[in-house]
Amino acid sequence: MTGICYEITKQLLLHGCTAAIICGRRESFLQKASATLSSLTGKVCLYKVCDVRDPNACKDVVDYAVKQFGRVDILVNGAAGNFLAEAKNLSPKGFKTVMEIDAMGTYNMSHATYHAMAKNAGGQGGVIINITMTLHYGATWYQAHASAAKSAIDSLTRTLALEWGCDGIRVNGIAPGPIENTPGTTKLAPGFTKDDVEEMIAERIPLGRLGTGFDIAMAAVFLSSDGSGSFVSGDTLVVDGAEWLFKPPM
Ligand code: HXC
Repeated sequence: MTGICYEITKQLLLHGCTAAIICGRRESFLQKASATLSSLTGKVCLYKVCDVRDPNACKDVVDYAVKQFGRVDILVNGAAGNFLAEAKNLSPKGFKTVMEIDAMGTYNMSHATYHAMAKNAGGQGGVIINITMTLHYGATWYQAHASAAKSAIDSLTRTLALEWGCDGIRVNGIAPGPIENTPGTTKLAPGFTKDDVEEMIAERIPLGRLGTGFDIAMAAVFLSSDGSGSFVSGDTLVVDGAEWLFKPPM
């Protein structure tokens, strides 16, 4: 687990969470991240290797969390695969792979977590946060796969909020804009240096800068909180410095 989800975990642990479990496909990354997060926050941060495309692996993560901590209160669905590809050159397997990591992964983890959250005492339920993007609000070149997947997740956010509200489960999304030091802004603009890419992107962000992991993490803290976010469900909060609304002056 890297980038945005790393920062979200850190801030949730610094803002009231007692423990966390992080997941991803690469054990070496998870090992390092969980050790750093534990020492930075003074809280328990465990890890479990999980490919969110596998429903059984998702169920194993939730069982592990319940075994370790007795309950699950917050789920952040942030797994994403992405690359630039013109739709006419994108293979069906390439499209399917991104749909499976992003959309199926979000469904698999949410589905696996539902019963644990619904069982929380006193109808307390829990909070699910789905990380998407703004690519599909209009249309984005070379992102047919990721746009379709994120659009599906936004739809899932609304449906699960509708169906699981009676169990005390709030389901929301966060749609980050370009975030500094993440693959979304570097790997996806081949041929340019990181600084050049970030400078070009900042020019079309009304707030004049790229977002940070902290910006997204604080949105997650807001949506997870029983105080500030407790009546928000079925919404996707755009945290992008107004990037997707950008139009040059007339
Ligand atoms: C075209 C590609 C490709 C590429 C993979 N594929 N990379 N097609 N261009 N660059 C195709 C393969 O050819 C194959 O189809 C199919 O996808 C599956 O590829 P695998 O490598 O077998 O899959 P897997 O190992 O599961 O890899 C998953 C991945 C990978 C998505 C393809 O790139 C990945 O996980 N990347 C790391 C995550 C990442 O970069 N996240 C960024 C998220 S940020 P065929 O038919 O050839 O077998 C973000 C913000 C976006 O999304 C902002 C945009 C502006």
